[in-house]
Amino acid sequence: MTEQILDLLKDHAVSAAKYSYSPYSGFPVGAAVSTVNGRIFTGCNVENASFGLTQCAERSALTAAVAGGAEPGSCMALVIYTPGQAVHSPCGACRQVMSELMAENSTVVSCCDGPQTRSWSKQGYLPDPFTPDSLSLPSKPRS
Ligand code: THU
Repeated sequence: MTEQILDLLKDHAVSAAKYSYSPYSGFPVGAAVSTVNGRIFTGCNVENASFGLTQCAERSALTAAVAGGAEPGSCMALVIYTPGQAVHSPCGACRQVMSELMAENSTVVSCCDGPQTRSWSKQGYLPDPFTPDSLSLPSKPRS
């Protein structure tokens, strides 16, 4: 991911975090993805009084991309933003969804208000994922 794309996606992720609905954790998260065609989609975490129904920011952004017409597997970059001076790691559920919806050579970067960032390749964030192949139903482009 170039510095320019990272800065752009970080701006979007910071804006998205402002919409976070996180009254239970007090832990707002924003995320922004860019597709192979340069489209950008954003998401934030959306919590629920039934805690298990909480949607993470990363999955919000990725589902927004698919709902907006992005081909599954076409997301090239995902930037996660959490306010504060520490960067945070994406949860396991998000890694599984990222693994299916992002491109093979995509990058995930976590950033915060400080200078620290962390980045992962697809193989780096989820080795040996569960894939559509296991279902004998290879994912195919939508018509
Ligand atoms: N959260 C995310 O949005 N992404 C992650 O990868 C980990 C956690 C959210 C879920 C919940 O609203 C809050 O952070 C605390 O877990």
